[in-house]
Amino acid sequence: MNEVKFYKGERIPLELHKVRVVQKLNLVPVERRFNAIKEAGFNTFRLSTKDVFLDMLTDSGTNAMSDNQVAAMFQADDAYAGSQSFSRLQQAVEDVLGKKYYLPVHQGRAAENVISRTFIKKGDVIPMNYHFTTALAHILENGGAIAELLYDDALDIKSANPFKGNIDIQKLVACIEKNGADKIPFIRMEASTNLIGGQPFSIANLMDVRRIADKYGIMLVLDASLLGENAYLIKQREKEWAENTMADIIKMMTNLADLVYFSARKLSSSRGGGICTNRKDLYGKMEALIPLFEGFLTYGGISTREIEAMAVGLYETLDETMISQSPLFIKYLVEQLDSFDIPVVTPPGVLGCHVDAMSFCSHIPQNEYPAGALAVAFFLISGIRGMERGTISSVRDENGMEILADVELLRLAVPRRVFTLSQINYVIDRLRWLFDNRKLIGGLKFVYEPPVLRFFMGGLEPTSDWLEQLLVKFKKDFGDSL
Ligand code: F0G
Repeated sequence: MNEVKFYKGERIPLELHKVRVVQKLNLVPVERRFNAIKEAGFNTFRLSTKDVFLDMLTDSGTNAMSDNQVAAMFQADDAYAGSQSFSRLQQAVEDVLGKKYYLPVHQGRAAENVISRTFIKKGDVIPMNYHFTTALAHILENGGAIAELLYDDALDIKSANPFKGNIDIQKLVACIEKNGADKIPFIRMEASTNLIGGQPFSIANLMDVRRIADKYGIMLVLDASLLGENAYLIKQREKEWAENTMADIIKMMTNLADLVYFSARKLSSSRGGGICTNRKDLYGKMEALIPLFEGFLTYGGISTREIEAMAVGLYETLDETMISQSPLFIKYLVEQLDSFDIPVVTPPGVLGCHVDAMSFCSHIPQNEYPAGALAVAFFLISGIRGMERGTISSVRDENGMEILADVELLRLAVPRRVFTLSQINYVIDRLRWLFDNRKLIGGLKFVYEPPVLRFFMGGLEPTSDWLEQLLVKFKKDFGDSL
């Protein structure tokens, strides 16, 4: 228990760190925000941070580093081969994740590239709790398909289910029986299922998945990018694990998987990534791809300074105080918004607060991208940059038709130890105003659509002059306020 109780029972997440290095922010006038989002093709990925006030796009590579991480960067051993920095990282992987063999890669999707190329053949199916955009892209690229096997209620926006990231075991068995184990190179479990609102799975569920994997002789792969936060929520929500340490829970989770991969941009508040295992045969199958795509086996495309920061960051994921900060801020944000009837994914998950755009903008048809439109509108009226996690982030089918996303979310990421509580209160204030004025928000359409991962660089356009109308209303209500 590391939550501080307040005298009159207020639920305020108290920062258990101090801020010693700061970066100045700009809150540019609303007219400049209007031009900025227009220049960015109405896509928040294409904004420049000089126009952004609170950058809630992602927690990837944006968590605050600790003093010990920054200090470690100064001892980096810049050697192409055999760097001592790498030995320190390898030791951290073994100590924290319990895996002896480690392959470094420059970030998470590079691990997905190596794993997919090595294990997936055309016609294979990968059962999983839910996809992540880059994981799906690499599976499709290698001729595979996915089967998402969440329980039916996992996509309910309002829910009391503490583990919406669990795989439905009956669906898993049916999927294996239908496709045949020989068509299933691995089962993929994603810690804190990103795209459905940062929702965790339980250890009990992971044990069940392991049992099925063993029964059919299928490998179990764990995407551990958000492992620390999933472990923290297990400690909070799965009573069998309430008394265990973060170290116990993390080890238990990684022990159940044959192969663990991660984006260090999230897991260890650094840059980089990795694949680790205790099975030498699996390591051997992937090893040759690292020098081909990433870099030599003792750096894998990661700078040695970041390798040092990653090693320290991995040990710090065992620190409950550090890991709890972002989930506690998210809980505060979600509960406040929920109390004002603003539709958000519940229970509060990790990574960020997820606003339900399908309900917030119920007047916008899904093929006009309600979550993308909400992200654009919210940036205009607040300077806050969120990320669309809906149909724009989805793909087209083989006939070029839109595959409408299961959920349309505006994700407001809360990276670790970056924002203060008054900034979070500003998020709440501006979302309340936008909710009261939501009928002014209109749709978007693509004017430039890249063939792969279109959400990153795609260009859009409003379907009418709704953004101008929203600006007028903002000026009317806020006058000269930024
Ligand atoms: N797996 C998960 C669960 C992720 O959330 C991410 C990245 C990746 C893999 C890919 O890692 O970016 O280092 O290549 N998520 C970021 C996000 C991009 O904003 O949620 P990467």
